[in-house]
Amino acid sequence: MVKTNRANFGSKLGIILASAGSAVGLGNIWRFPYETGNHGGAAFILIYLGCIILLGLPIMISEFLIGRRSQANAGRSYSILKPGTQWKWVGRIGVLASFLILSYYSVVAGWTLEYTLQAATNSFAGKSANDFIVSFQLFSGNPWRPLIWLTVFLLATHFIIVKGVEKGIEKSSKMMMPALFILLLILVVYSVTLPGAEKGIAFLLKPDFSKVNGEVFLGAMGQAFFSLSLGMGCLSTYASYFGKHTDLARTAFSVGIIDTVIAILAGFIIFPAAFAVGIQPDAGPSLIFITLPNVFQQAFGEVPALAFIFSVMFYILLAVAAITSTISLHEVATAYLHEQFKMTRGKAAKFVTGGCIFLGIFCSLSLGTTKEYTLFGMGLFDLFDFVTTKIMLPLGGLLISIFTGWVLDKKIVKGEITNDGTLKGVIYPYLIFILKYIAPVAISFIFINELGFLK
Ligand code: PFF
Repeated sequence: MVKTNRANFGSKLGIILASAGSAVGLGNIWRFPYETGNHGGAAFILIYLGCIILLGLPIMISEFLIGRRSQANAGRSYSILKPGTQWKWVGRIGVLASFLILSYYSVVAGWTLEYTLQAATNSFAGKSANDFIVSFQLFSGNPWRPLIWLTVFLLATHFIIVKGVEKGIEKSSKMMMPALFILLLILVVYSVTLPGAEKGIAFLLKPDFSKVNGEVFLGAMGQAFFSLSLGMGCLSTYASYFGKHTDLARTAFSVGIIDTVIAILAGFIIFPAAFAVGIQPDAGPSLIFITLPNVFQQAFGEVPALAFIFSVMFYILLAVAAITSTISLHEVATAYLHEQFKMTRGKAAKFVTGGCIFLGIFCSLSLGTTKEYTLFGMGLFDLFDFVTTKIMLPLGGLLISIFTGWVLDKKIVKGEITNDGTLKGVIYPYLIFILKYIAPVAISFIFINELGFLK
């Protein structure tokens, strides 16, 4: 390990919670239930679990070892490990991806604040299903309101980022992650005890393999990738702040378990509640912002106080999950500007926040006011989502597995896995085999499929 004076996470728990905070986000609570609903439930979840274990964890360990070994931001780590080669582009593409993802992710993150406010001011009370559709469309198409929330969300992220690694990221994750977990558990208990919730529970637990096709399989792999924050140097940047005694494999397992448990808990909140009021599980991306407020009203209509508490807690939780992810996205770009261009951390963070507010405004407007302006048939929001999750992340993951499996000196890989011989490192041979053969083939398959070549 290279010795430097870089910032460090102060404790083992801080390391796990900050990394898990990055992984757990809108991907778990918004995207996972929606993908599960669209792909038939339990069978999708089983395949997703397989993908986490076989692909997600090995690539996460790779990112961890690249970050800790190089002790550098994502943009520079490859130049340190393989100087003078073109591998530096893997990191640079990752930095660009973080910037683009942060711009549109913050739009949806901003919506969570609007819905927290609506829930807290009891605006859901007495509304019908149709009212919720209209109010979501009015809000997301409004030229001002979403922009204000987007700005507030990015400024909140900025504030935590400039406080620095230990004080900002670690402290906030230490408080927010356990709070999130407890809130989720309370909501699960509410949801699974609703009359008629059994159908939703069966949907999540009884696999129907007749619905499994190639698309379900590939969908599950793509979700695993996005949810674990892989492929763009986010976790490698965090790992550059890990201490030399951090057990990388163990940390990856902990993060993988936390991320998966939270996604499944989100499923146990949403589906029992949706089935209880007869809402279809494949309602799609609107599930959380249109269907759920309606679910809360219908399910707890008899007891308005419960409807109020349930919905306020849910949207607070979603905002918390989103901010621990936006912090990690922001950190990738901030660390790069700070270290690469010798800016102060504060100045680097201002560039990132300002740039993302600027791009985020156009992303947000592309959903309403400027809907008719498209590029490659997509508005800016959809274009950023497509380019990052469907091209940049799979490409990044593919290259990271090839880099660790084939290019990086095996002594370095083994040294990082075993902490220079102090740990047993039993997973080492399996890890190398997966990174060399299984991950590159499987990810190429997702990548090609997502670009539509197989359709
Ligand atoms: N993993 C986050 C989520 O599930 O919401 C999203 C994300 C964060 C993706 C950071 C990529 C990343 F680098």
